[in-house]
Amino acid sequence: TRTAILISGRGSNMAALLAAARDPAYPAEIALVLSNRPDAAGLARAADAGVPTAVVDSRAFKGDRPGFEAAMEQALAAHRIGLIALAGFLRVLTPGFVGRWDGRLVNIHPSLLPAFPGLETHERALAAGVRLHGCTVHLVSAGVDEGPILAQAAVPVLPGDTPATLAARVLAQEHRIYPAALAWVAAGRVRVADGRALLDGMAV
Ligand code: GRF
Repeated sequence: TRTAILISGRGSNMAALLAAARDPAYPAEIALVLSNRPDAAGLARAADAGVPTAVVDSRAFKGDRPGFEAAMEQALAAHRIGLIALAGFLRVLTPGFVGRWDGRLVNIHPSLLPAFPGLETHERALAAGVRLHGCTVHLVSAGVDEGPILAQAAVPVLPGDTPATLAARVLAQEHRIYPAALAWVAAGRVRVADGRALLDGMAV
C-alpha cells in the first residue's frame, strides 16, 4: 500500500516507520513524507532516506482549512497514496478529510488514550500523578485523538521524572508499536465494528 507519513517536526516516528518499511516484506511502502511546515527537521531525514517529500505550508492557508486540505489531497493524489500515517502532525483535520480517509488514516498519540488527549500529555500525566503512562496508535475518526485503538504500550512513571525523561521513555515505545500497528492496517487485517478495531477478526 502506497503510504504517506504526515509530519510537522522532528520526525522520529517517521524514521521508525521508514526503517521498518525498508524490509521488502513490510506491507506499507512509504511513498511520500508530507509536512505542513517547510522547516520540519524530518523532511531532511526523509530526503536522506531517498523518500519523496512535499510541503503544504499551513501558514500560507491561514483561516482556510478547506484550501489547506485540498492542497494536501492534491499532493496525496499526485503520489497515488492509499494510506496515511500521522506522525507528530500538528494540524487538526476536518471531518470531511477524516471521512474521506476513513479506515486509512492512522495516528500515534503520546498517552494511554482515552486519558490525556491533546497536547502536553507528559506534563499532564505528571501533574495527575498517574503511575502508568504510555502511547496509543489508533485509527482516526472525527474527534481529536479519538478513534478505534490499534495498539498501546505502557511505561512506568518513575520518581524524579520530568516531562522530558518521561517523554523519552514513551517515545521508545512509540517507535516500537507504530510500525507494527501500521503494518496491520496496510495488510488489510483491521476491521472496525462498534467503534472498536478488530485484528484478523478478533479484538486487538
Ligand atoms: C510524538 O510523541 C508523537 O506521539 C506526538 O508528537 C511526537 C512527535 O515526535 N504526536 P516525532 O516528530 O515523531 O519525533
